[in-house]
Amino acid sequence: MSSPESVASYYRLHVFVCTHQRPAEEARRGCGDRGSAAARDHLKRRAKELGLGEVRINNAGCLGRCALGPVLVIYPDAAWYRFDSIADIDEILDRHLGRGERVERLLLDGPVTPVLTA
Ligand code: FES
Repeated sequence: MSSPESVASYYRLHVFVCTHQRPAEEARRGCGDRGSAAARDHLKRRAKELGLGEVRINNAGCLGRCALGPVLVIYPDAAWYRFDSIADIDEILDRHLGRGERVERLLLDGPVTPVLTA
């Protein structure tokens, strides 16, 4: 059995983009109802074009931060971002995924408060 210290990340960076959608009758909207799937597609395409093969972009269901969305999280950095536009996605791509810089203006602040859903 390996210890946590001996386990290397399979990917240099692993990005989870929430694309969760909610039924129209629900008052609370999901990130997927606010354009996150297009943002995910753009991020995947641009990461591939830039040759960031060590970066993995995945869909995620609800990440529990719906009110702040649309959101994505990057591990192992545990960097949570909100994005409002493709320009925001491009900035995260260029600075965080490309150069290892956090994009302070888009980071979510505060502790994660899990949202329990039935
Ligand atoms: S729907 Fe995206 S965090 Fe909940």
